[in-house]
Amino acid sequence: MRIRIAPSILAADFSALGEEIATAEKGGADLIHVDVMDGHFVPNITIGPPVVRAIKRVTSLPLDVHLMIADPARYLTTFADAGADFLSVHVEATPHLHRTLTEIKELGVQAGVALNPSTSESVLNEIATEVDFILVMSVNPGFGGQKFIPRTLTKIAAIHDILEKAKNEASIEVDGGISQSNAGDVVAAGADILVAGSAIFGSPDPSQAIEMLRMEGNAGLPATGRKKA
Ligand code: DX5
Ligand code: ZN
Repeated sequence: MRIRIAPSILAADFSALGEEIATAEKGGADLIHVDVMDGHFVPNITIGPPVVRAIKRVTSLPLDVHLMIADPARYLTTFADAGADFLSVHVEATPHLHRTLTEIKELGVQAGVALNPSTSESVLNEIATEVDFILVMSVNPGFGGQKFIPRTLTKIAAIHDILEKAKNEASIEVDGGISQSNAGDVVAAGADILVAGSAIFGSPDPSQAIEMLRMEGNAGLPATGRKKA
């Protein structure tokens, strides 16, 4: 299994976004994580399709667009057209999850389901065969720089089991409060995509921060590999 590092631009300097993304790309990032917030689903407002489109022009890395918005189904085509390669929708924000995932896949985009800390992984049982990835929130969505919720580790392991039973090698992405100190634990629990905002862009050396997260993450891999080869 290969660990992928997804720097969250929420912690980047928005006045120099192109340079910040270039630094992350040179530093070995695998994806660029883009947090879209609407002030309804979460108590913060960030960026929308025009910014995603602009970022798409300045990086060759896949764009991992995390929709923290009410009624995300309304905007799937817009974000796919803007350049999203991965789109995650919150299960708490969409009543027709199966339909929404189907639509994302029909747009040629990787389809992900995001879960708030208070949402049980059991919501995944009926759609475990349909997802390309699961995004496990390890903080309450809305802001960067929060503290990792330790209970997430149990949830990641439970999600890993659900996917295994469904014979789906979908990725498990973990988002919120990820740092060198917990990267190994989340990977040991079954995660393979690590989102990090402040740990990367808040560091004086983002390249080194990416490298350290990968190193710590790899140290959490069981010798046999937990999922994918
Ligand atoms: C929070 C966002 C996260 C956030 C992570 O709602 O979904 O992607 O940017 O930031 P850190 O790594 O600082 O917790
Ligand atoms: Zn996010």
